[in-house]
Amino acid sequence: MGKSFAVIGDPIDHSLSPNIHSAAFRELDLDSSYIAYRIPKGELEDGIGGLKKIKIDGFNITIPHKIEMMKYLDKIDESCSLIGAVNTVSNKDGILKGYNTDMDGFLEPLKKKELNINGVKVLLIGAGGAARAIVAGFAKEKAKSITIANRTLEKATNLSKFAKTIGLDANAIEIEDIKDTAKDYDIIVNATSVGLKNESSVIELKGINEKTIVYDIVYMPMNTDFIKKAKAEKAIIIYGYEMLLGQAVRSFEIWHGIEAPYNAMKKALLGGF
Ligand code: ATR
Repeated sequence: MGKSFAVIGDPIDHSLSPNIHSAAFRELDLDSSYIAYRIPKGELEDGIGGLKKIKIDGFNITIPHKIEMMKYLDKIDESCSLIGAVNTVSNKDGILKGYNTDMDGFLEPLKKKELNINGVKVLLIGAGGAARAIVAGFAKEKAKSITIANRTLEKATNLSKFAKTIGLDANAIEIEDIKDTAKDYDIIVNATSVGLKNESSVIELKGINEKTIVYDIVYMPMNTDFIKKAKAEKAIIIYGYEMLLGQAVRSFEIWHGIEAPYNAMKKALLGGF
């Protein structure tokens, strides 16, 4: 029998994950299917029950369930316990195992482009679930230090404590205190949701140069105002879709145990824009 997969979240109708995974199935001739399934906040337990009933083989989790989903796991991979949030689940005979592929997904485009982040100074904007996976990634790759800027200072302070516990030198500031200091960093990451609705970037990027890496995790639209400002300064750009692709590739490999067809998945993703 064919295998079945899903992505759960709310909203979910604009998710590109079904396109990406279906393209991989076609490319490799796998008898599998992948659907988007809307589960509103507060209905996660029932939703998971339904997925178990139909013997789903695996699923991705997106906003707003990434943290709450931890409660319904039978087994927890190290990536998942470290980050405290889950975005990928495998189901083996009713045993749900959780993974977090956001960290690897974030690092993947940097590795593909051979951009070394060992010893770099990082400015991270945002302190939510995605930011936490990114902090774990910079700790793993031994960045020199990270400044976490967030609208709500308390959340930045908490995330900065987490960074220190995993061996990364960190400090927390409010976004407005970044002022004209962007040029002092080697890599600047937007991990807020700002840009999704075409808003202006929360910071200015004046003074950065062609060696500065600017990474936006917002993938829709592809060219956010933040990316446009970085391009104007001739910085090295990493788009949000590259992280999305990276985490999808990792999820695919967890579920199927074979190498993911990267190019077919990328093509399907870019076709979705
Ligand atoms: P995710 O799982 O995608 O990280 P999240 O945990 O809800 O989502 O985090 C969203 C991030 O975007 C937070 O850092 C949030 O800032 P607050 O902690 O102050 O809420 C940030 N964010 C959302 N809208 C914002 C806005 N209009 N201006 C600045 N930051 C914003």
